[in-house]
Amino acid sequence: MGRTTAAPAAVSTVAPTAASTAHRIAVIPGDGTGPEVIAEGLKVLNAVWDGFDAELITYDLGGERYLRTGETLPDSVLEELRRVDAIYLGAIGHPEVPSGVLERQVLLRIRFELDQYVNLRPVQALPGVSLPLATVQPDDIDMVFVRENSEGLYAGAGRFERKGTGEEVALQQSVNTRRGVERCVRFAFDTSRAAGRRRHVTLVHKTNVLNYAGDLWGRTFGAVAAEYPDVRMAYCHVDAACVYLLEDPGRFDVVVTDNMFGDILTDLAAVLQGGMGVAAGANLNPEGISMFEPIGGTAPDQAGRGTINPLAAIGALRLLLDALGELDAAARVDVGIRFAASKMASMRAGHMGFTTSEVGDLVVEGATR
Ligand code: IPM
Ligand code: MN
Repeated sequence: MGRTTAAPAAVSTVAPTAASTAHRIAVIPGDGTGPEVIAEGLKVLNAVWDGFDAELITYDLGGERYLRTGETLPDSVLEELRRVDAIYLGAIGHPEVPSGVLERQVLLRIRFELDQYVNLRPVQALPGVSLPLATVQPDDIDMVFVRENSEGLYAGAGRFERKGTGEEVALQQSVNTRRGVERCVRFAFDTSRAAGRRRHVTLVHKTNVLNYAGDLWGRTFGAVAAEYPDVRMAYCHVDAACVYLLEDPGRFDVVVTDNMFGDILTDLAAVLQGGMGVAAGANLNPEGISMFEPIGGTAPDQAGRGTINPLAAIGALRLLLDALGELDAAARVDVGIRFAASKMASMRAGHMGFTTSEVGDLVVEGATR
């Protein structure tokens, strides 16, 4: 691997050189267990690195920095992030920082500013992982969520009226643009044609109640589907989707849905596949810079104990390598994850039968055999 730079975020650590062929990866370990799981991801990256060069630029962002300096995501850092090839994120969130500050000013700001309009969350049962539902077979769990990641209720649009009075009203608006919905739906249909997928796309929404947003999503879905005659399509309401995920997950191949429904459903789906410890996601701008993260959060109660499961972060690394076109390395990481999962007692933090670092070692062993 090339140069590894660890520096405070406010310092410009790297001058981009047009001649460089190395993948430039911004690393944001973040808060809680973020640094521990990212360390394992980088250990694995080091092990599968072969034939390409990677330059890592570490950024100190998150709760500790905010408490120390009052800064969340300085504009100068955002500008640097615009010039890397990919971002590898641990987790952001801190028990001493009011809820929403770091989420909105760091995580969501990066997603929005870099226009990472798809949140791709693959859900697959790994070999040997015990599943929470006895009625569900591992083979039935093989789907990918395409969560709209730039609009909806996450836009933060709305207002208070008569705040603080007994007649207070809080309006929270869901923003759905034709362009935003269409590019997300199109991405879902394209994904359904990828190798290993089953050419089936389900739209999940709540068209029976959301008379404006649901209508736009439904019409857009129908129009895009007409361009993909080889892909089968389905629709279900979000409440029914919760039932089907638990009773008949095999019906789902690619699922496309809005930002908020996708947030909730992907946590449910993560548990279905064995827990947050294995759930990885990619915030994708297919034409720009994407960010890869374990979706489980900071798990402050596990921080610093060597008990957190790093497989989700290592899975995020696999998605990152895929996006950079390093398909061999990505495939090796996948083999390593499967190897580790088959040895572990459980995917749950503290019950793995191994420490965080030992799980990373298992992945390296499987990936390099
Ligand atoms: C996720 C997280 C975030 C979200 C939070 C931390 C803002 O739950 O990535 O799913 O809601 O998108
Ligand atoms: Mn979430």
